[in-house]
Amino acid sequence: MLRDSFGRVATDLRVSLTDKCNLRCTYCMPPEGLDWLPNAQLLTADEIVRLVTIGVERLGITEVRYTGGEPLIRRELADIVARTTALRPKPQVSLTTNGIGLARLAGALAEAGLDRVNVSLDTLDPDTFKRLAHRDRHADVVAGLAAAAEAGLRPVKVNAVLMRGFNDHEAVPLLRWCLDQGYELRFIEQMPLDAQHGWTREGMVTADEILERLSTAFDLTPDDPKARGSAPAERFLVDGGPARVGVIGSVTRPFCGSCDRVRLTADGQVRNCLFATEESDLKTAMRDGASDEELAERWKAAVARKRAGHGIDDPSFLQPSRPMSAIGG
Ligand code: 5AD
Ligand code: SF4
Repeated sequence: MLRDSFGRVATDLRVSLTDKCNLRCTYCMPPEGLDWLPNAQLLTADEIVRLVTIGVERLGITEVRYTGGEPLIRRELADIVARTTALRPKPQVSLTTNGIGLARLAGALAEAGLDRVNVSLDTLDPDTFKRLAHRDRHADVVAGLAAAAEAGLRPVKVNAVLMRGFNDHEAVPLLRWCLDQGYELRFIEQMPLDAQHGWTREGMVTADEILERLSTAFDLTPDDPKARGSAPAERFLVDGGPARVGVIGSVTRPFCGSCDRVRLTADGQVRNCLFATEESDLKTAMRDGASDEELAERWKAAVARKRAGHGIDDPSFLQPSRPMSAIGG
């Protein structure tokens, strides 16, 4: 098992398949994009599947989530998913995506055994989308969501980040729209992860504020806290349920104490936290001929060093040197 010195066990593996993306969300990267990782440094599909297999077969990983950058950009995605869902014990396999291209790929992914998708959508307004993501692709995302539901990748979850002055007036309309479509909406507090270091505490719309805004239009009752487990989202029944909304207070309501995640970057580094300052290199060991047993031992040693929490509220907090797109959302 992947146990750390605080007794937490990592069972949820997030794998970034690429650092590249076809959007430029303000809270993630600058409009001109970033210096992408050279292709030779990216794990190949075979290398990804080998590490995921070690995680599932030897280290107790029960949930695998593919992320990016934008994972739909990886041409081998459906193949990677199929090889992941063929593992035993069979892990839950999901995808976090911006939805562009999902309209075309949802069917093949469902066929490959994908269980669920989380699609990022921060606004209902195409112009605001363009301002936030620097690309005119709102319609593609909406079509991608519909295709995911149609293909049975349910429950379809929508992730929204509110930014002051951009889309912070949309909390209520976003929830209303998601309820209408049958999607489960989760708001995520903006975290200091953007490559251009533009995050400010004042600019962040807090979980308290989000709940306050939603409460003007909906009756929210906290869901059974036992059902939350290690999930980062605090869930609320909307108008008595069964529909729910989630709020992820990554900054103001940290959930590090029950964190069960471990990450694998697109270039094959084990990372214990989005905000970790250290990574452990599995790629080099693998390319130097390490056995599965040796890779598993390295991975265990890496997780054993996991820190207690992200410390964003600590004055000594340092933003990680790599942006979210490289380390996996
Ligand atoms: N803060 C909060 N959420 C973010 N995401 C990307 N960058 C940030 C950030 N700085 C979201 C994306 C996606 C998920 C992977 O994380 O919108 O839904
Ligand atoms: Fe792309 Fe996701 Fe970053 Fe937006 S948040 S630019 S969709 S990687």
